[in-house]
Amino acid sequence: MKLLVTGGAGFIGSNFVIYMLQQHPDYQILNVDALTYAGNLENLKSIENHPNYTFAKADITDVQAMDALFSQGVDVVVNFAAESHVDRSILEPDVFVKTNVLGTQVLLDAAKKYNVTKFVQVSTDEVYGTLGATGLFTEETPLTPNSPYSASKAGGDLLVRAYHETFGLPVNITRCSNNYGPYQFPEKLIPLMISRALADQALPVYGDGMNIRDWLYVEDHCSAIDLVIHEGVIGEVYNIGGNNERTNVHIVKTVLQELGKPDSLITYVQDRPGHDRRYGIDPTKITRELGWKPKHTFETGIKETIQWYLNNQEWWTRIQSGEYQKYAALQYGSR
Ligand code: NAD
Ligand code: DAU
Repeated sequence: MKLLVTGGAGFIGSNFVIYMLQQHPDYQILNVDALTYAGNLENLKSIENHPNYTFAKADITDVQAMDALFSQGVDVVVNFAAESHVDRSILEPDVFVKTNVLGTQVLLDAAKKYNVTKFVQVSTDEVYGTLGATGLFTEETPLTPNSPYSASKAGGDLLVRAYHETFGLPVNITRCSNNYGPYQFPEKLIPLMISRALADQALPVYGDGMNIRDWLYVEDHCSAIDLVIHEGVIGEVYNIGGNNERTNVHIVKTVLQELGKPDSLITYVQDRPGHDRRYGIDPTKITRELGWKPKHTFETGIKETIQWYLNNQEWWTRIQSGEYQKYAALQYGSR
């Protein structure tokens, strides 16, 4: 099988490429990534010389570049490439629409022209908007995105759906909850808190810290996508999540406790505009119909993740010293 993976130099994409080469060493993987601030080829050091792995630096919104890559022959597309950070989408929505909506459409056109056997759109629970105190997101929950990021992801999802309905393109859409694990960019909650706590910097918790996210270890997301590639019923949407709802303040206190740092580092700051209160995935469909089961509990996964960041300080300090500085100055000032 020849897999074209977009965004394979990012957090989940690089974990996915490594996972797939371990599970299916005979598959050919073409990783297509524009290497934005979030893309990092260092993540892929362990497999860069694998005989079945190729990398192409290209932007998914570039029609000619995508045509040239697809013309080499592609069986399955897995589209991870996206602008992924909600806070950045509040500062700069345009690039989110460009990559997440237009980029998806460019890929869909190429997939249609070259008759791929499946197009998997890697989406997010954020397209469903926010939950109140009870209930869970199912695949039937209406899309009511609240941030420019989630609206752009919902736009991409709707195009994927439309290419299936209109052109018969064989598609699946996956919608996963919050991921954590190795290689997550240190702007996201867990690695941000680890890196700042280690430097004894204030930990900015938005609002009252009681917003809830549903956490899944990245490898469990990868195994779910692997299953959807092989067993997913064409045209179907699959929610992915491991029933691990936690408040943000619980996450931050767990990080502090693991690192032996005081809770006094927590600083409550102004809330994120449009901040979704609670996410919770109902994974019944993928569990019952495809037999997916996560391997990691939150308690072990978070410990392993903190240990990974302790063991790989060079990886994230290098990132923090680059282009990230400009964003960090805007977001955290002198805190
Ligand atoms: P990330 O920001 O770490 O990685 C995104 C990757 O896409 C980077 O390597 C970047 O260089 C690349 N990219 C961005 N724009 C591109 C373009 N125009 N052309 C080609 N490549 C481009 O993101 P992530 O957290 O790994 O998320 C990956 C996907 O999974 C996204 O589609 C995101 O919406 C989805 N998702 C993420 C989570 C999560 O918790 N992180 C949960 C559910 C779904
Ligand atoms: O739910 C899936 C989504 O999870 C993915 O689609 C997104 O790509 C991914 O970035 C993530 O979005 P969130 O907004 O949930 O993740 P983030 O790490 O930015 O924030 C998690 C929670 O922590 C959220 O409620 C906001 C809060 N937070 C975040 C940061 C960065 C803080 O309180 N302080 C912070 O500094």
